[in-house]
Amino acid sequence: MDIRKEIIRITSEYFEDKLDFQKLSNASKEFKSILNVICGQDLDIEEGRKDIEHGNGKALGTFWAALCLDDLLRTRQFIRGIDKAIKDKRKKKPIHILYAGTGPFATLILPIIFRYQKEDIKYTLLEVNPFTFQILQNVISKLGLKEFDIDLVNNDATKFKIDSKNEPDIIISETMQNALAKEQQVPIFLNLMRQVKLDTIFIPEKIELHLGLKKAGIPSEELQIKHFNKVEKVFEVSKESMFPQKQSEKQSIIKNSFPKKKTVIESKKLKGFNQLVIITEIQVFKNEKIVINESGLTTPLFIQEIPKNLKDSLIIDTQYQISSEPKLEYKITLPNNV
Ligand SMILES: C[S@@+](CC[C@H](N)C(=O)[O-])C[C@H]1O[C@@H](n2cnc3c(N)ncnc32)[C@H](O)[C@@H]1O
Repeated sequence: MDIRKEIIRITSEYFEDKLDFQKLSNASKEFKSILNVICGQDLDIEEGRKDIEHGNGKALGTFWAALCLDDLLRTRQFIRGIDKAIKDKRKKKPIHILYAGTGPFATLILPIIFRYQKEDIKYTLLEVNPFTFQILQNVISKLGLKEFDIDLVNNDATKFKIDSKNEPDIIISETMQNALAKEQQVPIFLNLMRQVKLDTIFIPEKIELHLGLKKAGIPSEELQIKHFNKVEKVFEVSKESMFPQKQSEKQSIIKNSFPKKKTVIESKKLKGFNQLVIITEIQVFKNEKIVINESGLTTPLFIQEIPKNLKDSLIIDTQYQISSEPKLEYKITLPNNV
């Protein structure tokens, strides 16, 4: 079997513009199964299930990182976004891609590697989890990728120093959960964004958190995008937000402290809604997006039941905080007359 041709064939569904869930699901199962064969190691063992706790959040265990492939739309949108970003940069040769947090299979880049000439792209694959890294090395070697320009680095992307003579053109990282909680997407991007020029493409290009409201009386299995109302954007991860024009905002971000927001929701705007939520939306690259509920990454996070017949406004103070458990911190002030 020619493994390269097989990977190109199996993963071709990700590049189809027309979304067919059945075909996508079949392709994803086939992709996973070939990766498991190449890997040749059971990841569902104690070492594989162990998350690694860092001061800036956790890095998923190998078994869990491998499972991300099953989040069908996430995987499709990221692969498509990366491919479009490469096409955007194609005038430059070779393009340098830094992939921070590859998981054991470098899942998001593998369908891409064999579709481009080896002279066109060089890769830095960065992974912090030593067990995941060991599997990654094995997978890359078994795929016969030696003739490609691939640098494998077992390092922490929140501290990684970019070589200024070898700056990446595209930086990819999917190290997040919904509401940007627990994992290290924000400190990873913050560290890398500080070290590169403004024309470096980050994948995802933009992640937004909104405070939102969920309509009352809809069973959870029937929830759709139309049942959520966005109230106010409270946090954004993008080059524009991390490199703001205003000097004062720049200063606070340099110190890893993000702006505080106060959101006031008038009682009349709460009618018909029963939950306050944090909504996550991802612009992977240009029109490749992941909207509410399309992926585990964009499942709205419930934060507060809204009492019936509120007569006063609801006040919510928010601020994103990087810590051993990064998250959007919030303080909800309920009116006295509840
Ligand atoms: C959510 S998984 C995604 C795996 C794969 N990229 C995918 O999209 O299917 C995140 C991966 O990033 C790695 N990771 C998390 N924090 C990291 C850090 N600070 N530096 C490098 N890798 C990190 C984890 O160990 C894990 O393998």
